[in-house]
Parts: sequence; C-alpha cells; structure tokens
Amino acid sequence: MKRTKIIGTGSYLPDRIMTNQDWEKRVDTSDEWITTRTGIKERHISAPDEATSDMVVQAAQRAIENAGIQKSDIDMIIVGTISPDTPYPSTANWVQKKMGIQPIPSFDVSAACSGFIYGLITADSMIKTGMAKKILVAGGECMTKVMDWEDRATCVLFGDGAGAAVVEATEEERGILSSMWGADGNLGKLLYQPAGGSAMPATLETVEKKLHTVHMEGNQVFKHAVLRMQEAAQTALQKAGLSVEDVDLYIPHQANIRIIEATINRAKIPLEKTFINIDKIGNMSSATIPVAMDQAVQQGRLKEGDHLLLSAFGAGFTWGGMVIRM
Ligand code: ACO
Repeated sequence: MKRTKIIGTGSYLPDRIMTNQDWEKRVDTSDEWITTRTGIKERHISAPDEATSDMVVQAAQRAIENAGIQKSDIDMIIVGTISPDTPYPSTANWVQKKMGIQPIPSFDVSAACSGFIYGLITADSMIKTGMAKKILVAGGECMTKVMDWEDRATCVLFGDGAGAAVVEATEEERGILSSMWGADGNLGKLLYQPAGGSAMPATLETVEKKLHTVHMEGNQVFKHAVLRMQEAAQTALQKAGLSVEDVDLYIPHQANIRIIEATINRAKIPLEKTFINIDKIGNMSSATIPVAMDQAVQQGRLKEGDHLLLSAFGAGFTWGGMVIRM
C-alpha cells in the first residue's frame, strides 16, 4: 500500500527575541503572570521587512537539504498560514517565486493552528492519488504583525517562525499511518480577525479600532482546545491501531502549557514523551508543529521507526491529529 513519508524537515526562527521582561516595559503585565498562565518566557519576532514567505523559504531550504533532494524535485507547495504575505497571491506562490521553483501547483491552507496538520493531510491525499510525488508542506506565521501590541490579553502569547517538511510516496511500512481533522464554524467568532476581508473591508475606522488583529475569548478557546486536542490524538491513535504505550513522541500544538498539561493528563500521555518548547517560542500558530518536529529530529528525539503523534487546535475552530511512523 502506498504511504506518505517525511524525508526531510527544516525550521527557521527570526533573530530578535522578546522576553517577558521586555513585555513588562510595554504593557501592564508581569513575567510571573505570563509564566504561570501560559508557560511562555520568550518568543521570536520577525524583522519589519520580513514576511511569512521569507521565513518559509529559510525553513524550506533546510528541509530540502535535509531530504537530500533538489528544489527542482518539488512538484507541489502547500503552506499553512493565517498571516499571509498578501490576501492573494498565496504565500505558497511567493515562496515558489523566491525559491526560483518552476511553475507547480502552490496554495495556502487557512486552518490557523491546525494549518500544518491540514497541509500534511492534503499532501497525503495528493500523494496517494498520484497528483504529486514530492511535496513541500510548511507552516509559517508572522503573528506579531497581526496582533494588537497594546492588548495584554493576546500580545504576550504569540511569536513568529516557520517550519517545513518534504514528503514523498513510499511502499515501506512507515510514513503517515492515520489522520483525523475537523472544524466547527459556529464557534468562529471566539477567535478571529474581524476586519480586512469582504465581511468588513478595511476603512479608517477599522484600522483605528484595531479590527485587523487577533480577537479572542481566551477562556472559551482554552476549554475547546483541551477537548479537541485530546480527541484528535486519541482518534488518530485508534485509527492507526495503536495505543498511548506505542507513542515515542507526542508533539502537541504549543498554545499554552496549561492546555498541553490538561490534554496529556486526559489522554494519559506521559510528560516525558511530550515535546514542549513553548517557553522559548510562544504560540506560532501553524508553525509550531513543524518547528517542533524539526527541533525533535535535530535533538535526536525522533528516530527512524519511531511513532510520532501530533495534535492541534486553532481558530475556526479547527483541529487535527496524525500518527506518523518515522
Ligand atoms: N498580564 C496581566 N494580566 C492579564 C494579562 C496579562 N498579559 N492578560 C489578561 N490579564 C488579566 C485580565 O485582564 C483579567 O483581569 P481581571 O480579573 O481584573 O478582569 C485576569 O488577568 C484574568 O484574565 P483571564 O482572561 O480570565 O485569564 P485566563 O486565566 O483565562 O488566562 C489566557 C488568559 C492565558 C489567554 C488563557 O485564557 C488561555 O491561554 N487561553 C487559550 C487561548 C490561546 O492559547 N489562544 C491562542 C490561539 S488559539 C490556539 O493556539 C489554540
């Protein structure tokens, strides 16, 4: 049976680091509040002239190099993002241009923090139906460019970065073993960017009211995130015919340490099998999982044959889970 395997990963984080102490100087907050409520200590901030595509290009080049292939081998680009360079063309198109890749199908997936898992599920289907042979799947976000830097309830949560993976078909007993995804648009307004689309086009008033930034009901998001991330992880495991004991590494979306802790407690996933880097990177939406995957590979925490479990939850609401045999 044809499966989709990951043959290379890469990641990129901007140089500038902003600590909780730096935020203390800008808004009415404290290192203590941010650390106990979120687990975040610092996050990376993109340069003023650095767009999402610039970060994805860096991550993609590393993934292609680690895969041992040429960029000309790539025949599809999928980018998960909610902070695209432009509403159109897609960020994937800008990545294609900046990398000098020949005309190939390139498109974005808008599923917020679940964007990378949605991208991998799409790529898996494309590989299995023969629509593509080697796909670059990325998650990249300039969240700090779409948040309100004066809203202490949201600004301290986010960071910027990008991660990427190259996938290809295999006949081996490895690769993506199972996946699940879901969405509930009824809950869309609990976490959204109100203005800038056709429902509320940009005007002086929308800019003055900062409606082009993240608006969130934090408590509600928290509750749904725990339930859906647990459900996504357990369903993916069940579909793969595996149990928690078979998992070598669990990479949850890194939104908040308390969401991660509540999820692993409910799903009975041991802390030592859970990859956590939120203290250093904050919430990078669709970029968190591919960056964590690449860091896990670099740190030797993910080896060939290991079972990797992923689950994510984000605006939409969207959620997704996946089991990969590396
Ligand atoms: N510093 C100090 N005080 C703050 C800050 C801050 N940065 N932000 C909010 N507060 C205050 C509030 O004003 C409030 O004060 P009040 O009681 O006087 O009104 C108090 O802290 C408590 O506010 P809550 O919103 O109830 O705090 P809560 O414990 O829910 O924590 C948080 C807020 C961290 C946002 C939490 O709800 C959360 O993590 N939710 C999940 C949201 C999330 O992670 N979203 C990311 C995008 S979605 C995703 O990636 C899954």
